[in-house]
Amino acid sequence: MTKAWSKSDWRAKPRVQMPDYPDQPALNAVEAQLAKYPPLVFAGEARRLKKQLALAGEGKAFLLQGGDCAESFAEFSADNIRDTFRVMLQMAVVLTYGAKVPVVKVGRMAGQFAKPRSAPTEVIGGVEYPSYRGDIINGFDADMASRLPDPGRMLQAYTQAAASLNLLRAFSTGGFADINRVHSWTLGFAEHDKAERYRELSNRISDALDFMAAAGVTAETANELARVDFYTSHEALLLEYEEALCRVDSITGQNIAGSGHMIWIGDRTHQPDGAHVEFCRGVLNPIGLKCGPSTTADDLKVLLAKLNPENEAGRLTLIARFGAGKVGENLPRLIKAVQEEGANVVWSCDPMHGNTIKSSTGYKTRPFDSVLREVREFFAIHKAEGTVPGGVHFEMTGKDVTECTGGLRAVTDEDLSDRYHTACDPRLNASQSLELAFLVAEELTARRDERRRVAM
Ligand code: PEP
Ligand code: CO
Repeated sequence: MTKAWSKSDWRAKPRVQMPDYPDQPALNAVEAQLAKYPPLVFAGEARRLKKQLALAGEGKAFLLQGGDCAESFAEFSADNIRDTFRVMLQMAVVLTYGAKVPVVKVGRMAGQFAKPRSAPTEVIGGVEYPSYRGDIINGFDADMASRLPDPGRMLQAYTQAAASLNLLRAFSTGGFADINRVHSWTLGFAEHDKAERYRELSNRISDALDFMAAAGVTAETANELARVDFYTSHEALLLEYEEALCRVDSITGQNIAGSGHMIWIGDRTHQPDGAHVEFCRGVLNPIGLKCGPSTTADDLKVLLAKLNPENEAGRLTLIARFGAGKVGENLPRLIKAVQEEGANVVWSCDPMHGNTIKSSTGYKTRPFDSVLREVREFFAIHKAEGTVPGGVHFEMTGKDVTECTGGLRAVTDEDLSDRYHTACDPRLNASQSLELAFLVAEELTARRDERRRVAM
């Protein structure tokens, strides 16, 4: 029997990557205020997402998780939310066609504010400042006052998350997500000179939609074509915020993180005896766990037992982020650990965080080719191991930024300074995101064809 859990138990555990607030009374006041606010999500939604993720674990659905590395207060606008949502829907249509299974759409949105950092300080213009830790904690501007952790920022993050989620819910059901509309945007992309390879798939999707319309299945007659389920997620890093939004589900009496549908534990905070694992193990939400090159099989086994003691399908998504060229030496050993435990997991691929480099022009960037290569390696290993590639996890935006190099409309090292807007890690822009979806769809199609062949 595991002992009863309480939402504040994490406070007795070793914590990393969290701020030391200088003003304790101010922190207490914010926590008390947040604890009175409504939760942002409800238990029934988190349970539904868990069911859909359970299907992704069996290859009967596919997870698409994506959005900003760090949401920011300055970049908060309806247009930004709409554009990221739109690209995710476009990607989902392409992936649905490739995988021939439902795509579970989860935004890194409406709560993705807190960032782990590789060092506690950073040098800007010759001066050493405390590191920027995300808008929910401190300010991006390089001045000492702005870099001081300010608990009041949690209230602004909550308000922004609530407003973002409200708009996402409206977009999901209010007509914006009509599949014909979404596909018409993708057709525009496929008309690009160099998009020859993607045009055929786009045309096949058009044919499928035309066929369904002729058979009487349209957004007017079938609700499924007019609306989507869209979920939110973020890294559960700032545990004061998570605890303050933790609620008890009145139906089951279970605890739920009310801050978002799915929360994940980062690669730097998954110490089996640490504060982050302690908090996450007690809430009913689907949990993501980042797995990097330093994740050991032994630690993973302990984490599987702690985070999913009932071995519930859909509860745990392992988000592999090794870097291109490193999947072969890492993924098989972790797959083996999962198999030895007989654990139910969803395997997802984050091809972003192992592929960050410094460009020749001094920007933190990610080459599109490395991102793509890691995705291919992920699929190849699952094929070799006979396991299920259940999803992908991207840092992306609907805007035409220049943060990752490469892609169809090739961004070069020299272009990076043009529109480099991220508050943290470099994101795929709209065109690169959609291109990646086409390439993942090709992998999924090949996998499906192969399985058909074997079944015949
Ligand atoms: C992230 O997803 O933004 C992140 C920091 O990832 P990781 O914990 O895998 O480094
Ligand atoms: Co990131």
